[in-house]
Amino acid sequence: MSRKKNVEQIYGGTTIFTGLSFQIHSGEIIGLVAEMVKGNLRLQGLLVLKTLLQERLAGKKESTKGMLAQTPAREDITIYDLLQRRTKSIATAITTLIPTFPEHLGLEATLNTYGSLLDQFEKAGGYETEANIRRVAAGLGIADLLEKNLVDLKRGERTKVELAELLLQKPDLLILDEPTNHLDIYALDWLSKWIKDYTGSVFIISHDRTFLDDTVTKIWELEHGELFIYHTNYTDYVMEREARILRQFQHYEDQQKKIKKMTETIKRLKEWANRAKPPNASMHRQAKSMEKALNRIKRLQRPVETKQVALAFDTEQRSGNDVFTCENIVKHFDNTPIFNGVSLHIRHGERVAIVGPNGAGKSTLIKTLLRQHDVDSGEVTVGHNISIGYLSQHLEFGTSTDTVLSAFRNAATVTEAEARHILAKFLFYGYDVFTSVSDLSGGESMRLRLAQLMQQHHNVLVFDEPTNHLDIDSKEMLEEALESFQGTLIAVSHDRYFLNKSLSTTLWLEDGQLTRYEGPFNYARMKRSE
Ligand SMILES: Nc1ncnc2c1ncn2[C@@H]1O[C@H](COP(=O)(O)OP(=O)(O)OP(=O)(O)O)[C@@H](O)[C@H]1O
Ligand SMILES: [Mg+2]
Repeated sequence: MSRKKNVEQIYGGTTIFTGLSFQIHSGEIIGLVAEMVKGNLRLQGLLVLKTLLQERLAGKKESTKGMLAQTPAREDITIYDLLQRRTKSIATAITTLIPTFPEHLGLEATLNTYGSLLDQFEKAGGYETEANIRRVAAGLGIADLLEKNLVDLKRGERTKVELAELLLQKPDLLILDEPTNHLDIYALDWLSKWIKDYTGSVFIISHDRTFLDDTVTKIWELEHGELFIYHTNYTDYVMEREARILRQFQHYEDQQKKIKKMTETIKRLKEWANRAKPPNASMHRQAKSMEKALNRIKRLQRPVETKQVALAFDTEQRSGNDVFTCENIVKHFDNTPIFNGVSLHIRHGERVAIVGPNGAGKSTLIKTLLRQHDVDSGEVTVGHNISIGYLSQHLEFGTSTDTVLSAFRNAATVTEAEARHILAKFLFYGYDVFTSVSDLSGGESMRLRLAQLMQQHHNVLVFDEPTNHLDIDSKEMLEEALESFQGTLIAVSHDRYFLNKSLSTTLWLEDGQLTRYEGPFNYARMKRSE
């Protein structure tokens, strides 16, 4: 169990939290959610973690903590060796201990060391290292990386290897910072199950709502510097939270009524007392004591409504009935087949999800529809009166010298005042609009791009992983903005919550084949497992 009392963290002059008390019991799986500080949940999460980590786990000296780093170190080592490094170092310690029997320690001390090393070896799964490594690598979809060198990996691959390393360590307190980034739907399912079966405690910072629902037993919510603990999963937390805010409002309103009534009574008492001839001393006394009572009331603060203003994607002109048609397309990259005869037909008004494992060719399929890629054979047809708003997976504003404001105004004909008003809805407040677009974080770039697209009234939206890097509030904003959209929506995503909420048809791309399901992601998944 880890315990920390009255923690205070101040970041750049802003108090993030103060006077918190928290503890983690063994076996608990906790999810951390927080209101945004400039759209940044991680900032707060990491501050909590830092504090936690500075604290020794109470009463349990040998407890281990493992944390998922965001930037893995560059090192010249194969992935397999990296993953077996820990158990290997214990094994080496054991094998060198015996022949070099350190006499000065004496027999008992040496045997104790030997026993403790064996314990550690067993706990780290040393007897089945290879099987463990293969199991975790297969689960996370990195089995084909084991022979590669760490320095040759792409960023997403590195993150997955880091995660594997951490899972294999099996620390008493496992701290996962955005573990689902870069994982596909298969790896997500595997990781959820792995965490549920974990015997230690787990602390999760994540924006993946389905993942939180699948794993956590408790939600910690940081709001206005206060920590609220909910003994439930994510979905129920949202409901309980709304109920709590409603209750707060009720208390606040009741108190406001009471204060108003007392103030009026005091006023009236004084008037009557003065009007009486001679002035009535007893009424004056009553007014005085009521005033005292009024001053003693502990005023409740008005609960803050953090819900954002509603935004919507709308269209100016309807497209033709056929939006995209592919007939039997075949495509290779070098010698790797991507599509082995893929056909699809997307009609006006459909909301289509494209799902599949990493590297299946989802982004390639989208670029093929957008005519950014040629096909080896087959036919791609784009319909009439189509205006496409495209959000790319690897969104970059590059070395552009634009600011958020100028980039936004390039895409929309609005005055500066209007632009700043709209950008504020996308959480760019005040001076934020003068940030250079090349300095934006992933989530900020995404919000700017969505702000641009929302001004352009396209009738076809093509989004490649739109919820990546978005915090939960921004995801909800996006889902709401899409609700009333009348045009055609095509989105690639691994975000199961978004898929089920915003898209009603599912195209599943795997092994070069595309299968269409007339239902959202959960339906498609059920059909596939039948
Ligand atoms: N321009 C290219 N030249 C060569 N190979 C490419 C090119 N673009 C993509 N590939 C390869 O084609 C395969 C499919 O890539 P794609 O980006 O379409 O996958 P994806 O389904 O979008 O994956 P993810 O879920 O990781 O986004 C991958 O193996 C990728 O490395
Ligand atoms: Mg992709």
